[in-house]
Amino acid sequence: MNVVIFGAPGSGKGTQSEKLIERYGLHHISTGEVLRDHIARKTPIGQIAKTYINQGQLIPDSLMIKILEEIIDNEPKAKEGVILDGFPRTIPQAEALNRFLAKRGQKIHHVVGLEVPEEELVDRMIKRGAQTGRADDNLETIQNRLKVYHESTTPLRDFYIKEGKYRPIKGSGSVEEIFGHIAEAIETATEKESPNF
Ligand code: AP5
Ligand code: MG
Repeated sequence: MNVVIFGAPGSGKGTQSEKLIERYGLHHISTGEVLRDHIARKTPIGQIAKTYINQGQLIPDSLMIKILEEIIDNEPKAKEGVILDGFPRTIPQAEALNRFLAKRGQKIHHVVGLEVPEEELVDRMIKRGAQTGRADDNLETIQNRLKVYHESTTPLRDFYIKEGKYRPIKGSGSVEEIFGHIAEAIETATEKESPNF
């Protein structure tokens, strides 16, 4: 099973990914974490990524797609099922992902869309910025991240609704409660698609 966890900055993609890994044994790929690791190691990709991340902008599609494809190709566990956290974020990324998986006889099964009111997103990220010092968790960058999300990433919701893969989830409440709704949505959709699964 391949799952995309989708949602605005601060919507709980990383938090709920951990629960999905525990329950379904999926391999987690967070493009944000991959890029932050490059920045920490001061790699050439990290040097490029830093300028975009610190402004709350997206890394260019061509580079991001290449990075993601290399990770999947080099990770044997990815064949058994992945959870993609933070990718795709644009229509070209989603189209590239479909082509890439189709070539390998694979596909995305579920897109879990965490829907959280904007004020709560901002509160969560400001709080995390104060606790962890994450570089893009300051008010100005948060506002840019949200703007970019509305402009470039929200069109993916319709893209995946058309593909019949979008599972909308209320992303506020306790972490356990939200995860309960995610598991129910995945299992109900899986049951409908293949009743003998
Ligand atoms: P990325 O790292 O993906 O960041 P993001 O999308 O902005 O999302 P966050 O990681 O901030 O939030 P999250 O949804 O994971 O929520 P979390 O569980 O942490 O991307 C960073 C940057 O990298 C991008 O801006 C871009 O520059 C670049 N990038 C990445 N992917 C890219 C791509 N595909 N293309 C181009 N550029 C790309 O939760 C947030 C906080 O809330 C935490 O403190 C958590 O503890 C708390 N929390 C979680 N759940 C709850 C709850 N139920 N109640 C209360 N608090 C909660
Ligand atoms: Mg995250």
